[in-house]
Amino acid sequence: MRASYFPFETKELATINNRELSERFVNLNGTWKFFWTEHYRNLPENFETLQFEDKNWDNLKVPANWEFHGYGTPIYVNHPFEFAVDNPNPPFIENEKQPAGVYRKEIVIPDEWNDKRVFIHLGAVKSAFRLYVNGKYVGLGEDSKLESEFELTEFVKPGKNLIVVEVRRWSDGSYLEAQDFWRISGIQRNVYLYARPSVHFYDLFVKSPLVNNYKDGELTFDIEIWNRENKKNGDYRVEAKLLNGNGYTLYSSSQTAIGLNRKQGKTILRFQEQLPNVHAWSAEKPYLYTLQINLLDPNGDVVESLNQKVGFRTYKVVGNQFLVNGEPVLFRGVNRHESHPETHHVVTEEQMITDLRIMKQLNMNAVRLSHYPNDPRWYELCDKYGLYVIDEANIESHGMYYDPEKTLGNDPEWEHAHMLRIKRMVERDKNHPSIVAWSMGNEAGNGYNFYKAYNWIKGFDPSRPVQYERSTTEWNTDIIVPQYPHPDYLEYYATHNPKRPYIMSEYAHAMGNSMGNFKEYWDVIEKYPSLQGGYIWDWVDQGIYKEINGKQVFGYGGDWGDETTPSDNNFLINGVIMPDRTWNPHAYEVRKVYQEIDFRLNIQEGKLEIFNEHFFKDLSNFNYKVVMLKNGKEVNSAGLESIPLQPRNRTMIDLPFELPKDTLAEYRMKVEASLTHDEGLLTEGTKLAEEEFAITPYVSEKIGLEPETFEITENENTLDVSKGSFTIKFDTSTGRFFDYTYKRDVLIKKGPELSLFRPLVDNDFGAGLNKKIDYLKSPGLQLVDFDHSTAEDGSYKIVTLFDVLKGDAKFTQTINIYADGKVLVDNDFKVLNEESEHNMVLKFGTSLVIPENLDKIEWYGRGPWESYEDRKSSALVDIYRSSVEDQYHPYVRPQESGNKTDVRWVKITDGKNGIRIIATDKLIDFSLLPYKLKDLYPTSEKGQEHSSLLVEDDANHLDIDLQQMGVAGINSWGTLPLEKYRMEFKDYNFSYIISPVQ
Ligand code: GAL
Ligand code: MG
Repeated sequence: MRASYFPFETKELATINNRELSERFVNLNGTWKFFWTEHYRNLPENFETLQFEDKNWDNLKVPANWEFHGYGTPIYVNHPFEFAVDNPNPPFIENEKQPAGVYRKEIVIPDEWNDKRVFIHLGAVKSAFRLYVNGKYVGLGEDSKLESEFELTEFVKPGKNLIVVEVRRWSDGSYLEAQDFWRISGIQRNVYLYARPSVHFYDLFVKSPLVNNYKDGELTFDIEIWNRENKKNGDYRVEAKLLNGNGYTLYSSSQTAIGLNRKQGKTILRFQEQLPNVHAWSAEKPYLYTLQINLLDPNGDVVESLNQKVGFRTYKVVGNQFLVNGEPVLFRGVNRHESHPETHHVVTEEQMITDLRIMKQLNMNAVRLSHYPNDPRWYELCDKYGLYVIDEANIESHGMYYDPEKTLGNDPEWEHAHMLRIKRMVERDKNHPSIVAWSMGNEAGNGYNFYKAYNWIKGFDPSRPVQYERSTTEWNTDIIVPQYPHPDYLEYYATHNPKRPYIMSEYAHAMGNSMGNFKEYWDVIEKYPSLQGGYIWDWVDQGIYKEINGKQVFGYGGDWGDETTPSDNNFLINGVIMPDRTWNPHAYEVRKVYQEIDFRLNIQEGKLEIFNEHFFKDLSNFNYKVVMLKNGKEVNSAGLESIPLQPRNRTMIDLPFELPKDTLAEYRMKVEASLTHDEGLLTEGTKLAEEEFAITPYVSEKIGLEPETFEITENENTLDVSKGSFTIKFDTSTGRFFDYTYKRDVLIKKGPELSLFRPLVDNDFGAGLNKKIDYLKSPGLQLVDFDHSTAEDGSYKIVTLFDVLKGDAKFTQTINIYADGKVLVDNDFKVLNEESEHNMVLKFGTSLVIPENLDKIEWYGRGPWESYEDRKSSALVDIYRSSVEDQYHPYVRPQESGNKTDVRWVKITDGKNGIRIIATDKLIDFSLLPYKLKDLYPTSEKGQEHSSLLVEDDANHLDIDLQQMGVAGINSWGTLPLEKYRMEFKDYNFSYIISPVQ
């Protein structure tokens, strides 16, 4: 294995660095003849031969994963081996099915390649393959996430040639590839041929640390060159040049490769130079230099030319900190799988750029390549646009678990396989400035093979730390990189004499409606030097397009294959963004918590404090907008010019307007920071940071609640309260009102009913709430008392008393009706049986049903996206407008969605007429959805449900709650929200006003 690069024929082409333009390149992507069978025994004989007739074979695209093209079943499982779920027996594959595919392609080798050496590059093939050329066996390959290259010079001739690749879905290598993702196969990265002269470069190893207090660059590069001929060649030379970002030459040098001057000679040339005052490379300022290297034959003609980007940087663990260029940066990271709903595990450059752009929009600065080396292009883009990269070897034997007697990580027979996967990754990727650390794999136990690998990497590349989650606190990891610790544990670690930096390899499991307490993680990270961030699990929901009943859905585990197909269902739907790259609501929370500008308000002095959290970048490319809101309405706004505030510095600036003194209204101030010029993939105007400040507290709105005399009509089962233009009908047998009519319009179809439950989110299922508290969805309300009379204040009062949960609690709802049909609803919940086993509720509130034509919403509270008690820092308080069809976020698997917190009032109308709900002494939550609880939570066990298949009800469902439990955000297999965001089974009370709107 060598560093990844493409050898060009001229300097000019190397500068453009697009191999498609090279005459030494033949692209083999595209259509191949394809034969697939469930068992390799059934492969036709002689499929590799020239005579074999493949006319009747199918056509399949390369690269592609064949299971999603109709060949076999895509399988999704988390831990186990999909081919031996119960009794893995490494290295054997004993499954009765052993799918295999054969790819055949006739290719044309250009005549000009006659005097050249020809190579084939197979970018990634899962899981193992054999290569045949013109009927002859060439070699085999494993490791489905790294390239294999073979020299074909002796196998090919100018003109037509036949390439045949036999691929097995499973092999001994599959025991190291039990990552939590789709287990799918085929040729999944680029395939191409290339030609090179007999004397050619082999490897290049660039080292470029910063020295002299991180000011100067120490450039060293070793160039390995081979003479592949059986004769002595004259003196070849290598010339090398380093250009800065403007194309200006800073260094040039040349050397004669005398070591080549023998038959089959090989040599290594070392170049070295210290460059004063270089620009450092960091994710914040990804400054790249270009190294141009040419190989010249004895006549002085260029025979090969390479172009290598160079970034000067120093990555080092010092004490309990990981320093980037001497600075203890914080890793605002995310784990990324190569996944796309249309192309599966194949990713195009365009898709990579889209991902990078969104990561930048979300203030992410680091990515862990979970759990395998990526397509080579990804690293070039990370070098260019600036992301810190954890490169991870393709090793996960999760299904063997971690017992030292079982894990392959501690089995010396598997040493070679472990070492190869790790060494080949490091060899291939060593020159990328963006790679800050090597990860030896994921969830593959610890032991001998990882001790060996650690020592090898440290010897080969001492310029980067090595990490491995399964080393836990053993010696063979330079950084403690745990998964899913509680934020309290971070604090514990940091305050107990930490010896190594602590950077979570996975945290904030973003499954479904999730990512609660993300802010709490960062509050503690920013407090202690040894805590340096982490990598969210994970980047994208790994749903795949599928058609069900004529509709396109994102399919997940269980959506393909029959009942015998193993599946871990939607456990791979854990993304910050959706499969099609739209943002999940928690993406906004990531952007907010990861933002690198911190604002504080000094109310006394009327000054705004700005802290630049970057380590390398000043704030000259940001300007600011400050807005003053009075009861949610903008009353003042001003722009602030950019300030070149230095990294890690703070400054106080004068506010552009006076702070209001008036205490009769609620004043809030917002500030946002946006880019003044395009920067990398982000365009001018992109908002990257914001904050809000409460200047004066909320003053509850004064609503005229005037007494009135009403007409009361009592029938057998109903009570009508009416006056002039409105009527409210109560069902005296259930206690619920069912029609609220105003000027002949029905505004409410069913009045407020106690609700303690929500359509469970994935984290609720993970915590077993479907088993433990599913009964709360119908808490057994029994009407005990229904009273009505004129109240002391002259309003008409209906008091309903319910027995709840078989007498363990009671619920009293008091409704006072005033002039113009205003209704004050007071909700009172009292626990009667303190000994009862109920220990929590999911919300305390009321649900109402309103006509579907009331579909326009305006509210004063947090928005515009949904928010929850433990995920609301990104949802600023303002007046927002929306409509019912935009309220539900289509999580891949249906669940709770659309909640709004800290709401002062909400107006719901058909454009003109409708209702307004007003909070009284406590702020409220609300949601308005076209779905019933049952649509979003059909049964207490998860089924194969999909949001795109939901059918809207013919009414809208309005929930008005005091509060709802947080969505939680540690893991999705047991943890509840942080204690402060849970809701105990205890007494609750809140009230609100319903007022007709015209
Ligand atoms: C981690 C694992 C990830 C993923 C995650 C759960 O332990 O490393 O690959 O399985 O759990 O979604
Ligand atoms: Mg795993």
